[in-house]
Amino acid sequence: PPRVFSGIKPSGGLTLGNYLGAIKPWVGMQGPSYQTIYCVVDLHAITVWQEPAELADGTREIAAGMLAAGIDPEKSILFNQARVPEHTQLAWIFNCVARVGWMNRMTQFKDKAGENAEAVSLGLYAYPSLMAADILLYHATHVPVGEDQKQHVELTRDIAAKFNHDFGREFFPLTEAVIEGPGMRIMNLRDGTKKMSKSGESDMERINMLDDADTIAKKFKKAKSDPEPLPEEVSALAGRPEAKNLVAIYASLSDQSTEAVLAEFGGEGWGKFKPALADLAVEKLAPISGEMRRLMDDKAEIDSMLERGAERAREIARPILRETYEIVGLQYS
Ligand code: TYM
Repeated sequence: PPRVFSGIKPSGGLTLGNYLGAIKPWVGMQGPSYQTIYCVVDLHAITVWQEPAELADGTREIAAGMLAAGIDPEKSILFNQARVPEHTQLAWIFNCVARVGWMNRMTQFKDKAGENAEAVSLGLYAYPSLMAADILLYHATHVPVGEDQKQHVELTRDIAAKFNHDFGREFFPLTEAVIEGPGMRIMNLRDGTKKMSKSGESDMERINMLDDADTIAKKFKKAKSDPEPLPEEVSALAGRPEAKNLVAIYASLSDQSTEAVLAEFGGEGWGKFKPALADLAVEKLAPISGEMRRLMDDKAEIDSMLERGAERAREIARPILRETYEIVGLQYS
């Protein structure tokens, strides 16, 4: 079956954006149609400063979130990136294939570096090359991600194509991003033009997977909306970023289309919709956060699960890395 690879950085807690844009679709891809490989990308996290004392627990928290949401370590390979050194080995080769000009076009780098592009880490600049290595080390063809990662997956194709061309072999597949459904671009609750992220300034901007029911209800109640009632038609959400986002969250949490949500709530005011959204979110998220907390109590169990996952990942990765070295003309023992 075709291989699926995706990852999440342990740079802060999981958000509703990570859940709806990534983990929830990943759960749905498990099964006979795909071989699914999911990774906590701790090496990507350290491209910006991480407190060493918090990084290991952060990695366990992301793994616990994936498990609690339904990633099954029997059906999927689940591990953390640092346990599989082949990722960094392939990334070095890709650093020598990718061009500086390609990195300069990455919008995520530009956003993160801001005004201060001279002072960020070299790792942050090379980030997409490590991400390409994550994917291509397994010859993965499908990468389920949120919208914000689309450009990085396209760059992965460029790296694969250039490698294949330079070395005259169709060795790496041209990977596709899988971006489907209303949850792929969850926005900040205080500003519907910005993405919901782990690192935004105010905690009120985001729903964290570990938020309790009262906090979730409060955040939706205080979420920015607009003075109009909900429209009947999806097209009427254009130009109303906050309304569009809240409807998308409802649709994604309830596995419905945006049309179906508006068929139910069109014409209603926020006083009715926001409490319904808060109730739905608590209903869906409380069991996940409860299970996450339970799993996080047993660090040794999470660590041994990640260790087993890493061993299975290396069985796939090692021969692909070996062949890559041979193609490039590197000697390997
Ligand atoms: P990260 O850790 O920022 O986010 C993990 C996943 O969550 C999705 N996501 C969102 N989806 C919808 N709305 C949002 N507001 C939102 N915020 C985050 C992201 O699109 C992502 O799918 N570079 C990646 C990690 C990575 C990776 C990979 C992914 C490293 N190697 C290989 C795929 C394949 C990242 O920073 O994800």
